[in-house]
Amino acid sequence: MRTRRALVIYEKLIKPFAFRMDAERAHNLALWLIENGFVTCAAPNEPHLRTTLFQHPIPHPLGLAAGFDKNGTAIDQWSGLGFSFAEIGTVTPKPQPGNEKPRLFRLVEDGAIINRMGFNSHGAAAVSKRLEQRQTRIPIGVNIGKNKTTPNEKAAEEYVECAERLAPVADYLVINVSSPNTPGIRDLQTPSEIRTLLQRLHPVSMKRPILIKLSPDSSDADLCAAAGAALESGAQGFVLTNTTTDRSGLSSTTNEQGGVSGKPLRCRAVDVCKRIRREFGRNFAIIGVGGVFTGADLLERLKAGADVCQIYTAFAFRGPCTARKILEELQQQMAAEGIRTLNELSP
Ligand SMILES: Cc1cc2nc3c(=O)[nH]c(=O)nc-3n(C[C@H](O)[C@H](O)[C@H](O)COP(=O)(O)O)c2cc1C
Repeated sequence: MRTRRALVIYEKLIKPFAFRMDAERAHNLALWLIENGFVTCAAPNEPHLRTTLFQHPIPHPLGLAAGFDKNGTAIDQWSGLGFSFAEIGTVTPKPQPGNEKPRLFRLVEDGAIINRMGFNSHGAAAVSKRLEQRQTRIPIGVNIGKNKTTPNEKAAEEYVECAERLAPVADYLVINVSSPNTPGIRDLQTPSEIRTLLQRLHPVSMKRPILIKLSPDSSDADLCAAAGAALESGAQGFVLTNTTTDRSGLSSTTNEQGGVSGKPLRCRAVDVCKRIRREFGRNFAIIGVGGVFTGADLLERLKAGADVCQIYTAFAFRGPCTARKILEELQQQMAAEGIRTLNELSP
């Protein structure tokens, strides 16, 4: 009943209005509605979709990607929208406003978004206080970054500051070294930078799993070098991938700078996932993200080696029942392919 009501409200009232609004205003409106519990849409709870994320049993493999709830203001609402886990952030050590507006653009024909938000963040102290009070029992990851004006030589200190503050309130941490919107941050993806960073984070990684979020724009060789260094230095997995600066998959003409997410990212994100899984085996986690819009996309990503997946752009385009719709489609796809449980996908 609540689900049907949420869908009707979304399709009839919010969507036509929101899609005419500036994209960031529409995002803020959606987040406000979510924070205040105006939209909910439960996901199916089916035994054959169950899995685990860092030893937490979860009802299915679909979570919310970083960037939608950057400050954890809607932390207790994500399970009611059908997500089995959520990633908050990117959180920076000190509060910062992010880039100048406009900085978020929909490319409707492409099923894509361009963003150059630039880590608008309430800062680690405010977010950790909020997360301390969370009621939700789903696993919460916290994605951390550095402040814009901090030079890369001082970046490790800032990741450590954020990690120490946020690890006690997080179920896992993600080191974001792949945003295209913070100048120079992608230079922290070299094996030596990753080793240095993870050595400094060693005390935190003894308490909480640390994952690295990688860029789809690095070559396969560079990604494998980065991943190898990360695994040797104590990382427990990867979030694959962040947004891309590549415009070759777009049919829309746009000169907006920033990272592209959504459908044009799908193929590259699948390839990166397959490559990292093939190269390094199964003894670490992959959270697959980038262009997952349908149940078939989710199944494809799990077959490519992801343990669980996340969405952002699909949620922005398909509305509050996206998780539920994708999981229903996943079950149909599994039935069509004769797959009984998700465990069958791991070799
Ligand atoms: C508006 C917007 C803001 C984002 N902000 C962040 C962020 O702060 N940190 C991060 O790691 N990823 C961020 N992302 C990237 C997403 O987490 C995800 O990696 C990417 O959008 C690909 O997934 P999708 O195709 O399902 O959107 C953002 C994406 C969008 C569209």
